Amino acid sequence: MAPKKVAVIVGSLRKESLSRKMAKNVIDLAPQNLKLEVLEIGDLQLYNQDLEAQPPRSWVEFRNRLKSFDGVIFVTPEYNRSIPGVLKNAIDIGSRPYRQIVWAKKPAAIISVSPGALGGFGANHHLRQSLVFLDMPAMQQPEAYIGHADEMFDVQGRISKVATKDFISKFLKAYDEWVYQFSEYNTETRRFKAASSAENEINN
Ligand SMILES: Cc1cc2nc3c(=O)[nH]c(=O)nc-3n(C[C@H](O)[C@H](O)[C@H](O)COP(=O)(O)O)c2cc1C
Repeated sequence: MAPKKVAVIVGSLRKESLSRKMAKNVIDLAPQNLKLEVLEIGDLQLYNQDLEAQPPRSWVEFRNRLKSFDGVIFVTPEYNRSIPGVLKNAIDIGSRPYRQIVWAKKPAAIISVSPGALGGFGANHHLRQSLVFLDMPAMQQPEAYIGHADEMFDVQGRISKVATKDFISKFLKAYDEWVYQFSEYNTETRRFKAASSAENEINN
């Protein structure tokens, strides 16, 4: 089977971002049949509906690039118990024009990252709320709330704790299955391939 192309979206612009370090580890630990790459969101002009008639180039390029991916992994910090504005901006840009949601049907997974003990639980679940409207099948298990992330990386930015590394590998294995389960959406039948074959089995 052809490898699936997965966009990794990082919810922080900070140079020494813990989320970006985590995203790099996620890319390195991904199974071979997932091709992960960071899709940058830092240069996106702020969303303004007035601009839709002639969208800024940064929006057009982002929407076009996003279209080329089979799935999305969000790696994000928590800001004030929600997601950072930069991530919400990217989500809004990909959600328009009306009824042309570029995110739609792309299988998603979320990793929230925080130096705090709660592991960005609030951001993780606020993001899930948006994914419902964006029509992105969001992986349920395992959940990834990565706490104490300020103690997690070595000087090269690699995860130093074996248990966390193993957990991320397990998470990616589950996501690999998730992507393949939800891939190959048929726009004519409005069915995922997995759903169509399950229906055929029932009907036969
Ligand atoms: C505006 C702002 C709000 C924050 N709110 C939270 C929060 O609600 N929960 C939390 O765990 N950490 C919060 N933090 C701390 C971040 O988790 C911490 O700065 C983290 O390192 C940011 O992620 P990054 O390293 O990927 O940039 C906040 C930080 C900022 C700058």
